Amino acid sequence: MKILIAGGAGFIGSTIASACLDNGIEPVILDSLVTGRREFTSGRVFYEGDISDGALIDTVFTDHPDINAVIDCAALIVVPDSVADPLS
Ligand SMILES: NC(=O)c1ccc[n+]([C@@H]2O[C@H](COP(=O)([O-])OP(=O)(O)OC[C@H]3O[C@@H](n4cnc5c(N)ncnc54)[C@H](O)[C@@H]3O)[C@@H](O)[C@H]2O)c1
Repeated sequence: MKILIAGGAGFIGSTIASACLDNGIEPVILDSLVTGRREFTSGRVFYEGDISDGALIDTVFTDHPDINAVIDCAALIVVPDSVADPLS
């Protein structure tokens, strides 16, 4: 089984990726690293880019047509930032 984890270099996403590996599920990570940490992707299948990049999403699913599910943890989580700059 293979799962795409958007935001997989972040706190929650990388923890889910570790839980997947512990349970025999292969995680595929997609993350822009805007706040994520590259070291959290070490040894894992990793695509660096934005979830709004349709061409990159196409590449991920072309490379991994056996992805069974997607978990989206990509987010900007700082509340004051989202109030000051809601469009981002
Ligand atoms: N941290 C918590 O305790 C907690 C609790 C409940 C829910 N959540 C939710 O889980 C989600 C993730 O939170 P987190 O704490 O892991 O945050 P985080 O900042 O550690 O991780 C978010 C990841 O998303 C990536 N990212 C942001 N925008 C992106 C984009 N456009 N394209 C690709 N990647 C992008 C960042 O680089 C980062 O790696 C959020 O929706 C948050 O609200 C978090």
